[in-house]
Amino acid sequence: MKRAVKLTDVALEVVLPPPEGLHGRVAEAMRYAVFAGGKRLRPFLVLAGAELLGADLDGAARTAAAIECLHTYSLVHDDLPAMDDDDLRRGRPTTHKQFDEATAILAGDALLTVAFEILADPKTHPSAEVRCKLIAGLAKAGGSQGMIGGQMIDMLSAQRSYGQDDIVLLQRMKTGALFEISAEAGPILAEAGADDLERLHSFAVDFGLLFQVTDDLMDVLGDAATAGKAVGKDLEQGKQTLVTTLGLEGAKREARRLAERASQTLSIYGSKADALRALPFELLDRTS
Ligand code: IPE
Ligand code: IPE
Ligand code: MG
Ligand code: MG
Ligand code: MG
Repeated sequence: MKRAVKLTDVALEVVLPPPEGLHGRVAEAMRYAVFAGGKRLRPFLVLAGAELLGADLDGAARTAAAIECLHTYSLVHDDLPAMDDDDLRRGRPTTHKQFDEATAILAGDALLTVAFEILADPKTHPSAEVRCKLIAGLAKAGGSQGMIGGQMIDMLSAQRSYGQDDIVLLQRMKTGALFEISAEAGPILAEAGADDLERLHSFAVDFGLLFQVTDDLMDVLGDAATAGKAVGKDLEQGKQTLVTTLGLEGAKREARRLAERASQTLSIYGSKADALRALPFELLDRTS
């Protein structure tokens, strides 16, 4: 994990624009949001998948950086007053609090677009076909059939009544889709076969759902100082989650079931996949 953070931060330093020129403020806000001590879980999945299947690690670190930029944009916009209206993120003032709303919107837009600029660069992978697969995969995961679609369902959740399947769909789109492309990036970069891609994909489907369940649990059970973001917001804003449908104990049980299944999916790789297989369990009791 520490190594993944380091490799990703080095790659991010290279790909992010310098805070210079008349427009330097937008780069400053991008860097503020990105270098704020996020957990870098999506980069970890990219790098661990790449390592498992023998892809070049420099290209994998650039891919990890691209996905982290897109993820960070999603947080900057998620925190805006028109969305979740949050003041604290990654233990610091949210980007719109530190700068202003217009700057936060623009920095988010720029983090979204730079992700594709990074992936399109031959430094990420010599094969144009591989780069196109990454670009198309990330566009789909981040778009209206993925993260944005999930955010739409989430924003409507205060006014509508959802069943458990709707909430699972919401979570998979809002959060799962980005984890899925993160786990698929390794096999794509390694030009691995369909079996490897499918296994990493299945792992990430369970992992993504588990991750959002633990985020929702943290919103109820956690504290802002440790989580680095406000808690108690989902209830306050009438958000529907698996905690609202399954209850605290039910949601915890569901998270454990998903961790076990995710880990089992990668058992075929033996000890080479130990780090990936351990991650879902590490997250079960997370406080940040
Ligand atoms: C937070 O993601 C947003 C959700 C999808 C719940 P993370 O918990 O991975 O946030 P950082 O990157 O570590 O700040
Ligand atoms: C946001 O979900 C997921 C995104 C796509 C950004 P949340 O709104 O629950 O994330 P937090 O709790 O603010 O990090
Ligand atoms: Mg939200
Ligand atoms: Mg939020
Ligand atoms: Mg949350």
